[in-house]
Amino acid sequence: MSISLNNVSYSYRSNFQTVNALNGVSYDFEPGKCYAIIGESGSGKTTLLSLMAGLDVPTEGEVIIDGISTRNWDRCKLLRDSISVIYQDDNLFPLLTVQENIRYPLDLKKVTKEDAMAKIREVRKRVGLHSSYNKRFPRHLSSSEQQRVAIARALAKGCSVILADEPTDNPDSTNTHNIVEILTSLAHVDGCTVIIVTHDYTVAEQVDVVLYMVDGCWRESED
Ligand SMILES: Nc1ncnc2c1ncn2[C@@H]1O[C@H](COP(=O)(O)OP(=O)(O)OP(=O)(O)O)[C@@H](O)[C@H]1O
Ligand SMILES: [Mg+2]
Repeated sequence: MSISLNNVSYSYRSNFQTVNALNGVSYDFEPGKCYAIIGESGSGKTTLLSLMAGLDVPTEGEVIIDGISTRNWDRCKLLRDSISVIYQDDNLFPLLTVQENIRYPLDLKKVTKEDAMAKIREVRKRVGLHSSYNKRFPRHLSSSEQQRVAIARALAKGCSVILADEPTDNPDSTNTHNIVEILTSLAHVDGCTVIIVTHDYTVAEQVDVVLYMVDGCWRESED
């Protein structure tokens, strides 16, 4: 799926103040590519990601997904069928095992048990999780293992857009590298549109396109 940002602005408004989190951002994201949006804390990355997931609509401008403004998309359909958001934490259903978490979107699609098991095996291997993880619960996994399960579930769902918020906020740089490698393969092998938002500048080396965000606007380059 293509995602176009058309002069997107977003403000958080309360009785006390208005915060302009995004200020007229435009860009066209294409399928089959992995993008990193890099910026300091508070620069507007998570806000932009929420708009691209269709969780909210811009205050001004449009987010266009496959030619249709998110104002006109059925938000539930978009998130159920097409877009997966991977957060740093809280990705998984805590009371379901790893296998049940991955299986969840397959059950929604009424996939047969046999096909579901084959798919779970396939996606678990893709993200490097051994079958011994099947019966474990999310609280017994490290944060990067939880992210792998979330990516496996996105793969099982077969969605065409993956939005990952700070998947790299991990003290172990090998794990960070591996998670970004899995995400880039979703773009290059599966043809997904993959967008990673992070403040980790090292991610820039692994992706196809890097966009730098400062105070809700694009900045031309790293310096
Ligand atoms: N619910 C909210 N109400 C008011 N202001 C908010 C809200 N959420 C975010 N903001 C403000 O909007 C701006 C952008 O926030 P956002 O969360 O998008 O930044 P970010 O780049 O994701 O930061 P981080 O790297 O810390 O996650 C910040 O100034 C933040 O304080
Ligand atoms: Mg954020």
